[in-house]
Amino acid sequence: MGRKALYTKIYNQLRYQILSGELAIGSPLPPERKLAMQLGVSRNTIVRAYAELEAEGIIASRMGSGRYVEALTPAPARIDWHYHTLGTLAPAPSHMAELLGVTDKYPDIINFAHGDGGKHTLESSGFPDYVKSTAEQLHSYYFTSVQGLPELREHLVSWMDMEQISSPEQVVITSGSQEGLYLIASLLARPGDLVLTEMPTYFGSLQLFQSLGMQVVPVPMDADGLRVDVLERILSHCRPRFLYTVPTYHNPTGWTMSAIRRKQLLALSEKYGLPIVEDDAYRHLHLDKEPPPALKALDHSGHVVYLNTFSKLLFPGLRIGWVAANRKLAQLLTRMKELSITTNTLGQLALAAYLRNGALRPHLENARLQYSEQAAIMESHLDRFSPLGIRYERPKGGFYFWVSLPEEINPRKLMARCLERGVSFTCGDMFLLREAEQPYIRLCFTHERSEKIDRGMKIIAEVLQQGKELQL
Ligand SMILES: Cc1ncc(COP(=O)(O)O)c(C=O)c1O
Repeated sequence: MGRKALYTKIYNQLRYQILSGELAIGSPLPPERKLAMQLGVSRNTIVRAYAELEAEGIIASRMGSGRYVEALTPAPARIDWHYHTLGTLAPAPSHMAELLGVTDKYPDIINFAHGDGGKHTLESSGFPDYVKSTAEQLHSYYFTSVQGLPELREHLVSWMDMEQISSPEQVVITSGSQEGLYLIASLLARPGDLVLTEMPTYFGSLQLFQSLGMQVVPVPMDADGLRVDVLERILSHCRPRFLYTVPTYHNPTGWTMSAIRRKQLLALSEKYGLPIVEDDAYRHLHLDKEPPPALKALDHSGHVVYLNTFSKLLFPGLRIGWVAANRKLAQLLTRMKELSITTNTLGQLALAAYLRNGALRPHLENARLQYSEQAAIMESHLDRFSPLGIRYERPKGGFYFWVSLPEEINPRKLMARCLERGVSFTCGDMFLLREAEQPYIRLCFTHERSEKIDRGMKIIAEVLQQGKELQL
């Protein structure tokens, strides 16, 4: 490329960055020598590009302090992206982005942070074979209905096995349950509205409600689930738009709402006309006996909107979840879903075939056995940590140990030290409304195989021990 073309290219790139608002008015430009080194070009090339921009009045030099982006008079219309977007979006990097970025940043990490079934269960599930054969079918590459593949919705009606959900018309397939929650929240509440949720709670729900500008009203929990007595007090003086709850193997505490509380909660919902969004992601992941029936299965008034996902039953990369509700709401949710067209066809077809062949039940039986073994290994280490002052309860299902650290250990500092040693987990403050000082960490026992759990927990023990000595 000739010298002229090279400086023109750099001039065009800088001009684009300035006019698009990427380089804001007033921001400094790199010194000529530095930019030349960065781009691997001669200093003269940069001098010429800067001279052109100066001649246009887009940049200007200030005596002794380099060049800056200028406000043009009259200014060409430049877009302030921040002004145009939702001011309520979670600050970057959000908890979600941080969590999902862990494996990109540290590919060999021992991962107790991500909440999913491990790659070892992918092999035993047989699911990849269904994807392969589906990928050979021509219709996998074309649209399916907005509401979701009819055959998949039919299988889901049988899978849920609830008299309240008797028709595929009541089911909407979504891109993960996170999208389901997004659709529900956008439909039921507006910015500024109050929404209720357990505290602590799944951080993806908090980030979603807050980013949509909703005001989250926390409801405390205990080992029997959400405190309905506190909920009643709240409802007696305000009118939230809905309650979001994870009543079964709650994320992050692992607690399950008792059968009595479920009835009390439904009674409150009827009394106050409160819609309940039940997120049932972990229902089939019990480690011992089966949990109490879903709220939806006890719902006589149609107030409960049911949410579930294949991210926990199978794998999160599928990005397929579903919402089940009364027909009216399912229709409205389908209208909302239309805004993102539909969920991916290939995944839905593969899942429909998997369910048609009855492969999900044996997969889950097998996965539960593996997860029990993994939980037992993690627990044996946690048991040994107790002289260090840590506390936990054995979960009856779900994916996590919710572990409280002794007062003198700071969870964020412990996490940073463990990351340096190649182990990740989640810090409890992510699950709170405000990032308060709190003593918890969350350890996922399903993602890693037993050997890695063993190795990772030994590292955490060493870091904890040092932390106690160093007052981390
Ligand atoms: C309670 C709960 N709901 C929803 C999700 C997100 O599920 P999906 O991957 O289907 O969006 C998670 C993931 O951790 C979760 O724990």
